[in-house]
Amino acid sequence: MKRIEIEHNKELKPLNTFGIAARASGFVAFRDRGDLAAIFADPSWSGKSWYVMSGGSNILLTGDYDGLILHPVARAIEEVERDGEAVTLRVQAGLAWDELVAYCVTNGYGGLENLSGIPGFVGAAPVQNIGAYGAEVKDTIAEVEAYRFDTGVVQSFTNAECRFGYRDSVFKHEERGSVILSVTFRLPLRPHFSIGYGDLSREVEALGGASLSAIRQAVLSIRAAKLPDPKVLGNSGSFFKNPVVSEQEAEALRCNYPDMPVYLVPTGVKLAAGWLIDRAGLKGYRQGRVGVHEKQALVLVNYGGATGGEVLALADHVIVAVRERFGVSLVPEVNVL
Ligand code: EPU
Repeated sequence: MKRIEIEHNKELKPLNTFGIAARASGFVAFRDRGDLAAIFADPSWSGKSWYVMSGGSNILLTGDYDGLILHPVARAIEEVERDGEAVTLRVQAGLAWDELVAYCVTNGYGGLENLSGIPGFVGAAPVQNIGAYGAEVKDTIAEVEAYRFDTGVVQSFTNAECRFGYRDSVFKHEERGSVILSVTFRLPLRPHFSIGYGDLSREVEALGGASLSAIRQAVLSIRAAKLPDPKVLGNSGSFFKNPVVSEQEAEALRCNYPDMPVYLVPTGVKLAAGWLIDRAGLKGYRQGRVGVHEKQALVLVNYGGATGGEVLALADHVIVAVRERFGVSLVPEVNVL
């Protein structure tokens, strides 16, 4: 059996992009199934809770964590297949997401360029089906390999078995007890560019027209203009999901607010939570050490030294204000631990 180094009483502040100070009773880096088997076999951790924290970019820590934080560190990209149409890459969970995007853009592999600049690791991408600028990662995923801690078996999930939805997958529900080891992507070699979202086409044209690298540059610059850099201002990207309401509710709101953005989705009408928060008068609102970002109201920020409880209190304030003004309930998108 492998020997595993567990760090005790680990400070998590440098490991979460919200920059919240909190400690975990244990922290362990893992590479593969053998490491996980050894960790779960260790009697001092049996029965304790555990949580996978990789990039720490979609998590709000609300206190010390009495359990074991599992942190993936394997970062290999392996080409498993190539035909005239596409390349298939198996990528280990511990690679930074944007390093993979940069690698694909450099090599001419399409499908991930609109997802440039998203913080976090590859292993977390399928969990919440990351999405931005008209693309969702589900459209590129062929398979996800995950370790089932209850059986010790590594299971492969096909795209359909991942049951992807908007910021959702089986790994947020029945498969919460699985630790993702690798993600396999099938990426077109003659990509179809998607630049229809918001200002993307204008930015891409200004860069000389659609190409993988122009789309990447355009997305990076739009993100830099709107989204705070976690290295400068603690945050977890969009704090809330964009709510989906019925067509009747959307129509009633549009009567009062004709300029409200709406997007038709299979389950109803998706509203822009950022617009709702903005119109509730909260963009740039500050409550002590936390606030609503001044350029993108969907992002809550830590001005320094905030606790998770302070962020949650602000989130509640936002939820109440939006419900009172629009009758719409916002639900957090970040994982609250
Ligand atoms: N808007 C406002 N005020 C604001 C923010 C937004 O009026 O303060 C309006 C915008 O003008 C636009 C609409 O709301 O008409 C949508 O805004 P935006 O295009 O910025 O996107 P979003 O819906 O707020 C989603 C994702 C982001 C992703 C962007 C771009 C969610 C929860 N968020 O935000 O993802 O980068 O689209 O595709 O779906 C994340 O998940 O952490 C994240 C940042």
